[in-house]
Amino acid sequence: MNKRLALVTGGASGMGLATVERLARDGFHVVMVDRDAALATKETHRLQGLGLDVVCQVLDLTDEAAVRGLVSALPPINALVNNAGIFDERKFLEVTNADFRRAYEVNLIAVATLTQEVAKRMPDGGRIVNIASRAYLGAKNHPHYVASKAAVVGYTRASAMELAPRGILVNAIAPGLIDTPLLRALTPDRMAQQLALQPTGKAGLPQDIAHTVSFLVSPQTSFITGQVLFLDGGKSLGGSGA
Ligand code: NAI
Repeated sequence: MNKRLALVTGGASGMGLATVERLARDGFHVVMVDRDAALATKETHRLQGLGLDVVCQVLDLTDEAAVRGLVSALPPINALVNNAGIFDERKFLEVTNADFRRAYEVNLIAVATLTQEVAKRMPDGGRIVNIASRAYLGAKNHPHYVASKAAVVGYTRASAMELAPRGILVNAIAPGLIDTPLLRALTPDRMAQQLALQPTGKAGLPQDIAHTVSFLVSPQTSFITGQVLFLDGGKSLGGSGA
């Protein structure tokens, strides 16, 4: 296969799905990885119906053996997008250790497992994009999520240093409020609060993220690594951390 290979986690929904479509339109053969079998199958068939070169692999990214097995069965991956993540709200005085462990298992440890396995055979010049969150700067009502995304930023910087000698560029995107199914975790009141904090008055679109991933994995960039790019409609400019 001469096409470049991209793997996008959490590719069945939201910004992952938009990224799968965008990278396929850019000419990648795209492997969508998701644990939601019904959604992954449905969306893959839809994209294939549009003539796009997309396949899906259904697995839970916290299953280390399954993740390592999948990567070793694939050809070397040119672009890895660690997008899958989980979000829920817990009050600061009520969040439990189990909440922290759940957030870290998906949002950090699964990212590290997959990145390590992919990096073993990633060709020189490969690209990795991790989806963090602007919440890593600090936000209320989800301390476990905030901490897990701050960890993703740290891991991005460490990965960038480790892989730079091979010309592999690793960057993070820190989205603000993006209109995806993940926001169902917010009550209507919390959603209204979040929208009120948006300098642009509205949430971003999944395609805003997809187009930026496309840029970061394209051959046009060769000198950006270890960076966190905020896609938050300017929210990170203000002092509020709701
Ligand atoms: P989404 O909920 O629409 O999609 C996430 C996808 O990941 C789902 O298809 C889900 O099945 C999959 N997934 C979750 N855990 C998995 C696991 N263990 N194994 C395999 N697949 C798994 O979410 P959305 O909004 O598209 O989020 C994508 C990323 O962006 C996440 O990392 C999220 O934390 C981050 N983010 C989202 C923001 C938003 O406002 N929507 C803001 C900032 C960051």
